[in-house]
Amino acid sequence: MNLRPPKNGKEYICLAIESSCDETSAAVVVNGRKVLSNIISSQIDIHKEYGGVVPEIASRHHLNNINPVIDSALEEAGIGLKDIDFIGVTNRPGLIGALLIGTATAKALAYALKVPLIGVHHIRGHICANYIADTELEPPFTSLIVSGGHSTLADVKGYTDYEIVGQTRDDAAGEAFDKVARVLGLGYPGGPLLDKLAKEGDPEAIHFKRVYLENDSYDFSFSGTKTGVLNYLNGKRQKKEPVNDADVAASFQAAVVEVLVNKSIKLAKERGRDKIVLAGGVAANSCLRKTLEEKCRENGIKLCMPPMILCTDNAAMIGAAAYYEFIKGSNGDGMDLDAYATAAL
Ligand code: KG4
Ligand code: ZN
Repeated sequence: MNLRPPKNGKEYICLAIESSCDETSAAVVVNGRKVLSNIISSQIDIHKEYGGVVPEIASRHHLNNINPVIDSALEEAGIGLKDIDFIGVTNRPGLIGALLIGTATAKALAYALKVPLIGVHHIRGHICANYIADTELEPPFTSLIVSGGHSTLADVKGYTDYEIVGQTRDDAAGEAFDKVARVLGLGYPGGPLLDKLAKEGDPEAIHFKRVYLENDSYDFSFSGTKTGVLNYLNGKRQKKEPVNDADVAASFQAAVVEVLVNKSIKLAKERGRDKIVLAGGVAANSCLRKTLEEKCRENGIKLCMPPMILCTDNAAMIGAAAYYEFIKGSNGDGMDLDAYATAAL
């Protein structure tokens, strides 16, 4: 790898920007690992009343928030614009209007400051959150990335070298959590609320389908498990039988987590990896964290999980991913950097 030499022993300071969904975030990250600030302005309360993220509303709020969020990130880090060495921005995948706000802002700043601009894949950012959480962590490792839009198993061979081994064929894990939470009347975003309710339930009360697909497949499918919950609830309602919502939440969660954990362990063993790295919003799920921890211990695999604040969308993780692209030695992306709603890892 063609690494940039350190500037007279000085460190590289990245201003990172994230606006792919409903969080406007800016962070100042040194050498990809040290976070000087990570400001997150969440729109959850705004989208709550619609039961999900409304893309047009999200874009408008990003536009209002982005400059104040960047100002706060610089202020909290105690630096000025002139101290920035490069800019990292999420430019793919995500809500296109939302991504464009961050990308256009980053381009304008990079042009004015004459510093390199690095477009970052959002999911790579989620994985790289772990370099901040564990400053000793190095690839290779197996990574399970579970968010509202993705359920992916990747073999991470190097800091910028990723192989997707499995992905969801229908609903992402977070999407399935959110949909089941909605039918249980829990509100939005449903994942954390379902997680909380499940703590009061029995995970073995109801057996929901575990979908493993073909024997050698690392893909996921959660829509059948989700439909199983809907059918169970409809059946109970038709017969006017009482439903224990906490048992439903715990049993559904157990079914999803079992498949995620078993496939992750299987992949790590098959590839001879001694580390599993968990990433994405659903990495905040307490059952997933606990079960993966137990299974990793049983199998002699080290587990890395980011703290909650680095699991959900934030710009610090984008600063970490951008750093490893930056030190590869290229001059980064040009002023023609575009935003993409979908993109391969
Ligand atoms: O990574 P993220 O913040 O945004 C995307 O890139 O999608 O992930 C958001 C997803 C939502 O579906 C949310 O319900 C889910 O992560 N989530 C959880 C938990 N916390 C967030 N799902 C289950 N249990 C949680 N504790
Ligand atoms: Zn995300």
